[in-house]
Parts: sequence; structure tokens; C-alpha cells
Amino acid sequence: MKGRILATGGAGYIGSHTCVELLRAGHSVVILDNFENSDREVAARIPAIAPGDVRLVEGDVRDARLVADVLTQHDCDAVIHFAGKKAVGESVADPLLYYHDNLSGAVSVLSAMRSVGCDRLVFSSSATVYGAAKVLPIPETAPTSISNPYGRTKLMTEEIIDDTAAAMPDFRALSLRYFNPVGAHPSALIGENPRGVPNNLFPYIAQTAAGLRDAVQVYGSDYDTADGTGSRDYIHVVDLARGHVAAVEHLLSDSANVLPHRRVNLGTGTGATVLQVIRAFSEACGFDVPYRLVPRRPGDAAASLADPSLARSLFGWTPSFGLAEMCRDHWRFQSAATAQRDVGLLGLVAAQ
Ligand code: WQD
Repeated sequence: MKGRILATGGAGYIGSHTCVELLRAGHSVVILDNFENSDREVAARIPAIAPGDVRLVEGDVRDARLVADVLTQHDCDAVIHFAGKKAVGESVADPLLYYHDNLSGAVSVLSAMRSVGCDRLVFSSSATVYGAAKVLPIPETAPTSISNPYGRTKLMTEEIIDDTAAAMPDFRALSLRYFNPVGAHPSALIGENPRGVPNNLFPYIAQTAAGLRDAVQVYGSDYDTADGTGSRDYIHVVDLARGHVAAVEHLLSDSANVLPHRRVNLGTGTGATVLQVIRAFSEACGFDVPYRLVPRRPGDAAASLADPSLARSLFGWTPSFGLAEMCRDHWRFQSAATAQRDVGLLGLVAAQ
């Protein structure tokens, strides 16, 4: 069944790639975004990548009446809720901001859905809810272990969805627990362009390769991993986006095995260490990306790895891209973004 999907935060990194894949799969899309942590330009580029029925509403998901109006006016069949803050460090420094924004946003969306009778939800959750898992790979049944307010908002929202499903007999939801999303759309028109100094490895490597940073700081080289550096399950953002399409189509299928609410991992089941990523990125950009070994970052786990078997068995999703494509596409986007920035700067200089 083709549907009309409301994507809250649909102009963000994962949201925009998911909107592209939804359009490519023949669905219609309504993007609701307040552009607090995303760019209008990204939303404007989506139709250029994937023509189709895409509409943009500028507004805040914490306004439940607005969300209800959007669901009604556009006759939405389902919601994918991306909107929210996602910086672990910021959440430690300002927990109440995260509880206010992420939890009130989720409650607002769920309340709006209930008020208009929209009963299909995909929620953007995170593997951060597992903390430093003791057993790898990590299945959805693994114990959760929260180490920061950001992760706690994700777990709390999953539990709010449990209670909502219990109160709404026809409600069906999937909470997708992302491992480490990286890469960019092969067109290089959309990708990850963090503001300020990147906290995450891939954008930091990409900015170093682009000459915007002097070297990658490798946090810790004494972990119990293949080469002593941290290991993660990196997943191409286009694979992740396609996982959302498969998830929402599963919910819209109304098949008998759609349970009220399930948590599902989206990862590859393949790990890569920091040094392996730097090596792969150096291959992609054609020169050695400089790095230095520095002490561990507090709170980091040695390794994280998804058991992705439920996504495959439940809605037939398997990732297609490996580390080389993740680095190729991330570098292609970074190069285009840096060139665009330089042209902008040159324009400013010329105008003076
Ligand atoms: C990956 C590896 C670092 C930066 C975070 C969030 C998580 C999720 C994904 C939202 C680790 C090492 C990093 C650097 C480094 N986000 N590293 N130098 O910490 O696994 O997960 O992003 O859901 O919630 O916690 O990702 O990219 O920060 O780190 O050596 O400059 O790279 O130690 O081993 P992480 P990351």
C-alpha cells in the first residue's frame, strides 16, 4: 500500500534521506520541520533527487494542534517521528532541554495522532539505549543501559509508545534503534553537515580530509579490539532510510504479524575500528587523512555491534552498502559542501 507519510524533522540528516527513499518507493511525503537544527536548502533539494508528492510545513512538533491539523489536512496514513535533539554531550550539559524538547515533542505527536485517529508510527530511536553492551552482537532483547540524558529520552519515548499502544487498540508502532549512521546520498545533494565542531567520527574525518581540521583525534588505542581503537557498527544513511520505508510499509500492510509496538535494530552486523575507518576514508579521498592517538573519551564503549536479524525477518530489510561506499559518499558530499562554502566565501570577498 502506498501512503502519505508525515516525516517530523524530515529536513534533517536521516529524515531527508528517508523522504527521498519514500518518494522513490511511490509514497507521498509531508515534511514538518522548524529548521532549528536543519536547513531549508535540504528540504528544497529533495524533489530534485526524487520527484513526487512532497509537501513542506514549517512548524514545531511540540504544537500538538499544528500536528493534528497537518495530519488531517494532508490525510496522512502514518508518521515517522525524527524531530528531536541528538547530541549526547549537549544532553549531559543541559538535560532539561533534552527532556523538554524530545519528550514533549513525542507526546505532542502521539496526542495529535490519537486525536485524529492516525495509528501507524515509526519512531527514530537509537542503539545508545544499550550503553556498553556486555555481549555482541546486540539483539533487541539485550538489557538497556542508559549513560546520558539523550539516550534516556529515547528509552522513555519507547516506553511512552508502549503505553499509547496499550490505550489505542488499533495503534501499531516500530521503534528503530539506529547504530552509527554515516555517509550521504550518492548525488552529494544531501548529507550530514553538522554545525560547529563535529562530535562524531565520520564528519570529523571528512572535515579533516577537507582541510577544515588539522588531524583526527583517535580517542583511545588500548581497547580490547582488533587494533586497540573503538569499534562500531556503521550503517550507510541510504540503507537506514530504506529500513524506514520497509518499516512503514510493514505497518501499513496490516499483516497479522504487526504487533502493537516492536523495537528493531538497524545496523549491518559488521564492525569497523576507528583506524579501519580512517584507512578506508583515506582510500576514498586518495590521500592519508592525518590522525593522532589520544586518551579515551569518557563514556565511550570499546565496541558496539548490531544483531540485524529481526529487521530482515520482520520486514525483509538488509543493508546493501559497505564501509568503502560509506566513505566514498561521505567524502563526495563533504567535497561538494566545502566547494560550495568556498564559492560563497569568494563571493563575499568579491562583493567587498
Ligand atoms: C564512534 C567511534 C569514538 C570521534 C554517537 C552517539 C549515538 C549515536 C551515534 C545518535 C568511537 C571514536 C569519535 C572522534 C574518535 N547518535 N571517535 N574521534 O559515540 O558510537 O555514537 O553517535 O543516536 O547516540 O553516542 O559515535 O562517531 O562519536 O564515535 O576516535 O573525533 O569513534 O571513540 O569509538 P558513537 P562517534
